[in-house]
Amino acid sequence: MRYRILAVALAGLLAAAFVVAACGVGPPAVPHAVSGRTDCRSCHATGAGDAPRFPQDHRSRGNNGCDDCHFVER
Ligand code: HEC
Ligand code: HEC
Repeated sequence: MRYRILAVALAGLLAAAFVVAACGVGPPAVPHAVSGRTDCRSCHATGAGDAPRFPQDHRSRGNNGCDDCHFVER
């Protein structure tokens, strides 16, 4: 009996982990080159040049902190 409960719990955990991985939760990587684009906020705070605007919680974040979370390929 005990093992059966464990197995069900384990299956639930695995399913939850799979959903989180599949939805891609977390900061998206930077898809473009960043040389000449060091003023991230000039585009992403305003939506200039069709840039996706960053979420509300980003308003107080400075340019030099962006790559702490967003992976930049160099
Ligand atoms: C000249 C305007 C401009 C500047 C400056 C700029 N970006 Fe972007 N960014 C864009 C555009 C436009 C896109 C949409 C995808 C594309 O066209 O490459 C984008 C896409 C992104 C995305 C992906 C968003 C998503 O939903 O997947 C991230 C993350 C990002 N930029 C981060 C940065 C960071 C960090 C910097 C500073 C180092 C920066 N950007 C500077 C215009 C800019
Ligand atoms: C503390 C971590 C963190 C920092 C620092 C950070 N971001 Fe993000 N960013 C995230 C996360 C997590 C998401 C995705 C979840 C969300 O939308 O809130 C995101 C989403 C984005 C998006 C996608 C918006 C969309 O809807 O496609 C852009 C663009 C972006 N960030 C740009 C920036 C820029 C520019 C900076 C620097 C000013 C920055 N981020 C700093 C964590 C961070």
